[in-house]
Amino acid sequence: MKIIFATSNQHKLREIKSLVIPGVEIVSLQDIGFEGELPETHETIEENSLEKAEYLSKKFNTFCFAEDTGLIVDALNGEPGVYSARYAGETATFDDNVNKVLSKMEGQKNRKARFKTVITYYSQDAYVQFEGVTEGEILEERIGNEGFGYDPIFKPEGSTKSYAEMSLKEKNEFSHRKKSFDLFANHLQQITV
Ligand code: IMP
Repeated sequence: MKIIFATSNQHKLREIKSLVIPGVEIVSLQDIGFEGELPETHETIEENSLEKAEYLSKKFNTFCFAEDTGLIVDALNGEPGVYSARYAGETATFDDNVNKVLSKMEGQKNRKARFKTVITYYSQDAYVQFEGVTEGEILEERIGNEGFGYDPIFKPEGSTKSYAEMSLKEKNEFSHRKKSFDLFANHLQQITV
């Protein structure tokens, strides 16, 4: 069974491709020659995840999954949240976004935060969603060079390392994305046996 993963983010693709569902081949947008932009126009992670999966599934008339992820910081009233990719502006880089979080968190005692991923699996006009959440804290400064996005300033609960100090294998032991993917994998195995 082939399933398209609707993302143009190469970092997410690398993380998802490190995970395996027996009997399932994950196909990237590059593999199918899609170079357009995916729509992301809503105010919630759930709706954006659904929008991307539905768009691609209808366009290619096949099974498809997408994910949307946000970093939710308590002291910032849930920001950057659904705006995580463009927190510092439409053309913001990972560095710009991290700088904005660090500067807004300067002197802040409450550093509690979480990553939330919602995967949407879309097939034949029906969909299911799977949520993965990892609790943690925002560091005072960047630590580590691995990963992407907010990884250098996020330390998951139960770890002494930031996400950016971890190998992909280590990150997968804590990862919000992996948690949602495991639920998705479980669902696929139940419907394909
Ligand atoms: P979106 O899900 O494509 O809207 O992206 C949300 C943004 O959150 C990305 O551009 C990254 O900056 C950030 N992000 C998503 N997943 C992760 C992660 O696993 N670690 C660090 N940052 C992430």
